[in-house]
Amino acid sequence: MVTRSVCFLLLTVTLLMAYRTKNGRTYHDPSRYPWPNDKQEQQRQVMLHEQCLISNDGQLVCCPQERYQRVLDIGTGTGIWAMEFADKHPGATVIGVDLSPIQPQWVPLNCNFEIDNVELEWTWSGDFDFIHGRMLGGCFEDPASIFNKSFEKLKRGSYLEVADVLLIPKCDDGTLRPDSQLLRWAGLLAKAADKMGRPINPASRYEQMLAKAGFEDIKVIEAKWPSNRWAKDQKLRVLGYLNSKTLQEELEAISMALLTRGLGWGSFEVNVLCAYVRRELMNPNIHVYFPFITAYGKKP
Ligand SMILES: C[S@@+](CC[C@H](N)C(=O)[O-])C[C@H]1O[C@@H](n2cnc3c(N)ncnc32)[C@H](O)[C@@H]1O
Repeated sequence: MVTRSVCFLLLTVTLLMAYRTKNGRTYHDPSRYPWPNDKQEQQRQVMLHEQCLISNDGQLVCCPQERYQRVLDIGTGTGIWAMEFADKHPGATVIGVDLSPIQPQWVPLNCNFEIDNVELEWTWSGDFDFIHGRMLGGCFEDPASIFNKSFEKLKRGSYLEVADVLLIPKCDDGTLRPDSQLLRWAGLLAKAADKMGRPINPASRYEQMLAKAGFEDIKVIEAKWPSNRWAKDQKLRVLGYLNSKTLQEELEAISMALLTRGLGWGSFEVNVLCAYVRRELMNPNIHVYFPFITAYGKKP
């Protein structure tokens, strides 16, 4: 019996750690989640966390909830949000859940990490009084079902807050030409992700999804993340600098994963497209920004 349990445990650990390597990057399971999970991606997530904090004027949360007891962070990644939240709210218990075991071992005592797939049945006993999810575009076949599960698992009067950047380049002054490679790239990525069954821009429907799940007092906040340091405003310049770094970091990995698997492109074609896209992203005369959407709603 003991031997069987040990074998089962070893098998589970082996399966969890058996990342797939493609084009020099490791993935948990690229057919399920197209971003890598290696050290390079973890550094990108940490930088992205700083970007989100600057965008939100240092706040980890935007909704008006004041007290927290049991908090769930969906798709926690490196767990940086969950750990900082736990530090800030020592009276709360924070659970961070992710497919990949990439969280550190030394964590605040009130923070726990679990390896699980939130697309499957939620088996947590007891309810949460805050659920948070950030940068989850491309994760789920049916993002609305995650909102429904959150609604079920929240106590009355508690909030679900979700935040995500839209990989949709916007420009208000005509400096982005309609035939730009950046626009073409964004359209191709969205098409590939849809074809693979996991939309990368669900944030454009967050408001409707919150309402449909039953949430009330819904609010959507839209910030601008410039593509580089083209903006005059100091905060936007800093966001643009960080955004250019995080975008460059993910450009090849995500394009390769989605375009080769979703649209059958070859790696040479992808590299050529990425070279054009990188040039446009770095050009300070092209005033592109990406919308960063934060949406929250309260369970009545
Ligand atoms: C871009 S990362 C965001 C990390 C974190 N939320 C943050 O903002 O720093 C998305 C994370 O969602 C996780 N993920 C994707 N699909 C998932 C699923 N079905 N269940 C649990 N986690 C999932 C990925 O493994 C990845 O770590």
